Amino acid sequence: MEPLATGTACGKVILFGEHAVVYRRPALAVPLTQVQATATIEPAEAGITIDAPDLQQIVSLDRASPASPLAAIVRLTLAHLQLPETPRLNITINSTIPIASGLGSGAAVSTAIVRALAQWANVMLDEAAVSALVFEVEKLHHGTPSGIDNTVIAYQQSVYFVRDEPIQLFNVAAPFTVIIGNTGVISSTKVAVSDVRQGWEADRGQYEAWFDQIGAIVQQARLAIETGAIDQLGPLMDQNQALLRNINVSGLELERLIAAAKDAGAAGAKLVGGGRGGNMIALVNDDNVAAVSAALKDAGAVSTIVTQIK
Ligand code: MEV
Repeated sequence: MEPLATGTACGKVILFGEHAVVYRRPALAVPLTQVQATATIEPAEAGITIDAPDLQQIVSLDRASPASPLAAIVRLTLAHLQLPETPRLNITINSTIPIASGLGSGAAVSTAIVRALAQWANVMLDEAAVSALVFEVEKLHHGTPSGIDNTVIAYQQSVYFVRDEPIQLFNVAAPFTVIIGNTGVISSTKVAVSDVRQGWEADRGQYEAWFDQIGAIVQQARLAIETGAIDQLGPLMDQNQALLRNINVSGLELERLIAAAKDAGAAGAKLVGGGRGGNMIALVNDDNVAAVSAALKDAGAVSTIVTQIK
């Protein structure tokens, strides 16, 4: 049967600045179009059901708890579109974005749902409206999200992001290639963000200093990207990773993949997103991308994605 509507959304990668971005330091993030979430709307016998096999969830809107992110994004979007919660719809979610792995799966699923419902209602929603709706649900996923995931994914643009400030786009003077390696370890961003908060509360002076250093790395990385000084990015990734270790969001499997990538010739490597598990990125070039990819797989990566930032 022809679906009534569909919506899609890409994933994202934070090149520099995760966690410190929650504390109003800048971060650089790019959309990842090789992976995506899709929401498909079909007619149903009764009520609204959200069926997300990849998330192992089936949610009936009338019985869902307010804490359910899938139900929340449907309710918020229907309210925004000024529609009652009475249509009979089945919303199926499929996603190639690994969940709880630092690639923005939660925000992408929400974005796909908003886009599908808007298409079904025949309403054009601009990126800012989509991003604002998804941000509300990010609060359920993350507790205190910076807003970077919903912004990069809803706008599908590379952004220099500072919390609560208008987004700035950045130019890439010379394209460069990163390889993304998945540890296969599921890790809750909410837990990592809340553990960092506990650390910050216990020793604000130290954490603020580390966040300042991450912010300074982001500024240098932006300048390097905008001037084509790609050789500076590897060391900056390593410095960012050292600070992420300090705030205790790295992990054994991440460190194993990072070391493997560096040993195989990557110019720099770091975790992406919430950390502890999930994905890492390494800066590669045409000469070493195959060796780095093989080394990541030997070191236990469950999947790798090569992507050009341009
Ligand atoms: C999650 O993709 C990035 C974090 O910085 C959290 C956030 O910005 O909301 C860890």
